[in-house]
Amino acid sequence: MFNALKPQAADKILALMGLFRADPRADKVDLGVGVYKDAEGRTPVMRAIKAAEKQLWEAETTKTYTALAGEPAFHAAMAELVLGKGYPAERLSALQTVGGTGACRMGFELARLANPGCTVWFSDPTWPNHLSILDFMKLPRKGYRYFDSAARVVDFEAMMEDLQGVTAGDVVLLHGCCHNPTGANLTLEQWAAVADLLEAKGALPMIDLAYQGFGDGLDADAAGTRLVASRLPEVMIAASCSKNFGIYRERTGCLMVLSDAAAKETTQGTLAYLNRQTYSFAPDHGARLVTMVLTDPALRAEWEAELEEVRTGMLGLRQQLADELRQLSNSDRFDFLAQHRGMFSRLGATPEQVETMRSENAIYMVGDSRLNIAGLNAKTVPILARAIIAAGV
Ligand code: LMR
Repeated sequence: MFNALKPQAADKILALMGLFRADPRADKVDLGVGVYKDAEGRTPVMRAIKAAEKQLWEAETTKTYTALAGEPAFHAAMAELVLGKGYPAERLSALQTVGGTGACRMGFELARLANPGCTVWFSDPTWPNHLSILDFMKLPRKGYRYFDSAARVVDFEAMMEDLQGVTAGDVVLLHGCCHNPTGANLTLEQWAAVADLLEAKGALPMIDLAYQGFGDGLDADAAGTRLVASRLPEVMIAASCSKNFGIYRERTGCLMVLSDAAAKETTQGTLAYLNRQTYSFAPDHGARLVTMVLTDPALRAEWEAELEEVRTGMLGLRQQLADELRQLSNSDRFDFLAQHRGMFSRLGATPEQVETMRSENAIYMVGDSRLNIAGLNAKTVPILARAIIAAGV
């Protein structure tokens, strides 16, 4: 029967990762998949994570099952990180998931169970896997305009205009910070306007928060999410620990759901049920490390310090790239690179120009010209800047 299978389209980001690995050129530069690299091109295990792993190895006496929805200590630590101290515990349900992708998937599953007729609204553009998962689930989806590709800023007017079409019970997917793929983010005033609109429409905001701490800092990056959570009666948040804890392969994420207090017990039970139907328990190791790092003051201080090094390092690279391009192009048309936040910026190159940079300069970026700033270093920035100009961007 497997002869009946049809080949699936490859995920563009992961396919690019394969192409990069296969490229024999020594000076190749990987600006594709969203992974942080230090100046030496390594993706290190963060210091606090390494220390927590050591402590865990000493202290752990069993590998028996944990709770189906994940450890309550993990839920509480993540809720405090994302929503801040004093989050409304009486309205919060949470689920430990297989990475941020798992949190997104479970969020969509929960929304579908609660409202089988819902449409999911997504920013156009968005992370391609959002769309691919929604299509796989056969959930209706609609895009809202988000990015002004000429000015490389959020097209807020268009976004609000399109969101007028949202109806009660629809899910509106938002990027909490560090928008993937554009790097252009909502201001707090814009978050407030979106919250007002969604509240008026009776829509359910679902916030994908995959890069907390990579933009303007841990609290600043959660400010939009906190604002929405403080105003709307029901909210879903899909948080990833892959990037900000550097534990990509441990697959650690958390879906948080705010509901009416009366609906909490059933919501929490449904979340656990979703884990059971899909893979039973989510992997424990990463979530345990995250809990240790967030709740032990010394580990937490070490983690925050390293995360801040990563964040300011990326800001420095953004500025360096914008400066180089200002010089080479004799214009300010690349200044947006210094304004964007997070790992990604959408450069605005054509697919042909992206291809030219790959074949001529061994520079790999996603076909829509999304580049991963965290894949650069002080030495590769000038190489990229020259390639961008040479390609005619
Ligand atoms: C990305 O967008 O590159 C990351 O979120 C990694 C992934 O799984 O696509």
